[in-house]
Amino acid sequence: MRFSIVFMGGTGDLAWRKLMPAMFEAFRHGAFPQMGRVLASAREVMDTPAYHEWLWKKFETLSWSEPLSRSEFEGFCAHVEYRPMDLSSPKTYEDLRQWVDAKQCESVVFYLATAPTLFTRICEGLAKAGLNRAHMRVVLEKPLGKDLQTAREINSAVSQHFSERQIFRIDHYLGKQSVQNLMALRFGNSIFEPVWRRESISHVQITLAEELGVEARGAYYEQAGALRDLVQNHLLQLLCIVAMEPPANEEADSIRDEKLKVLRCLRSIQPHEVSQYVVRGQYRAGVIGTQAVAAYVDEKNVAHDSITETYVAIRAEIDNWRWAGVPFFLRTGKRLPQRGAEIVINFRPVPHPIFPMPTVNANNRLVIRLQPEDTIEMHLLSKASNRSRAEQGRLVPVKLDLDFREAFGKQTVEGYERLLRKVIAGRLDLFVRFDEQEAAWKWVAPIQQAWAADPVPPRPYAAGTWGPAAASALTARENFSWPEDQ
Ligand code: BG6
Repeated sequence: MRFSIVFMGGTGDLAWRKLMPAMFEAFRHGAFPQMGRVLASAREVMDTPAYHEWLWKKFETLSWSEPLSRSEFEGFCAHVEYRPMDLSSPKTYEDLRQWVDAKQCESVVFYLATAPTLFTRICEGLAKAGLNRAHMRVVLEKPLGKDLQTAREINSAVSQHFSERQIFRIDHYLGKQSVQNLMALRFGNSIFEPVWRRESISHVQITLAEELGVEARGAYYEQAGALRDLVQNHLLQLLCIVAMEPPANEEADSIRDEKLKVLRCLRSIQPHEVSQYVVRGQYRAGVIGTQAVAAYVDEKNVAHDSITETYVAIRAEIDNWRWAGVPFFLRTGKRLPQRGAEIVINFRPVPHPIFPMPTVNANNRLVIRLQPEDTIEMHLLSKASNRSRAEQGRLVPVKLDLDFREAFGKQTVEGYERLLRKVIAGRLDLFVRFDEQEAAWKWVAPIQQAWAADPVPPRPYAAGTWGPAAASALTARENFSWPEDQ
């Protein structure tokens, strides 16, 4: 069956930074169907050769795992066309149908890398033109809606034209290698399951830290903020993978059923509890490395009195047998000291220490790092003989390290490429089902409500620091601390 993929929003940031590079990598890796076509479309008027040149210039600004080669790029471009499109005009969808028919494509993916407010209209247009046949699929980029209500409206409008198995809701964190590794670690090994529970684990910390600010996305970010941009999706998906029960098999719905159960067991934080369990912050000017950076409110397209949060820390709890009483600390922020994403599983202390214990880092920890490197570390305690007299006999923390690059060589398949390959294959296991998405929105809704009703601006933090002090207090209340505070 001939395959084609149509990118709507083909000149946007996402398209040139992530989607087209991922298609190009799939092509380089031989994972793009031989007769496949790519159609990029946007409002900008240009022809296909001009689009190729534009894309090449953008590609040159990116960093690549294997050097960029012009001849490979040209090979890829032989599959890529560009067409200006006005998504509000019915004629656009008629033209698109003619294009699809002329290319004799049966298997077609429509990738909606546009504002979510256009999703309904696009899906309606596609359906009216008969572009929702059995082998046609839509990919919806996040954010899907801005709250529970709007997400429901979009989902219900899209589902009038496409069945659930034709809808691919992207959360690009699910495409990351380390998320695959975490599933393999939990469900492909027997040693973790007995300790993966409240009896052995004291708390879990999940951090998504970025050095970057909002870049050129101020207008989008003003509407989103960290809660919608990262917590509702990436952070909650990671939490699900850590906390879910073993699925019956690898099928998409088996996995999604288990993630959904976790989301449904998340204890709701009531609006009056938000100030106790949630910290929101916004970066001020500061220094990252050696570079001075501006405050959020001085970024392009950001209001000078903006109260949009660029940092969130949350203490969550999962009310089920496995996890009752175990705090899950989640946090994310822009303009933090370094880029990094990690999940730290903190184990309980030994019931009766017979050795002198170290004063810090005395507990076992499993650290699953997603970024910048893909590693798993097990932190244990051991005797060390070459210590000073004062330290002799005391246990010291040591690390068992699994570096996936060392074990398997350089990773070549990046998140978006993995997801696009799944879309091409029509496999839904790494995509989010509508009920998961609704459950996630439902959980963040009281936080959104509390903030909307609260005129107090987010807590300031200097760019280049780990966020507001209140985030440290969130963990310290229970005698825990974030890794950098230890
Ligand atoms: C996106 C957010 O979903 O994820 C961005 O919209 C964020 O604000 C990005 O920068 C982070 O992704 P990654 O893969 O670079 O950690």
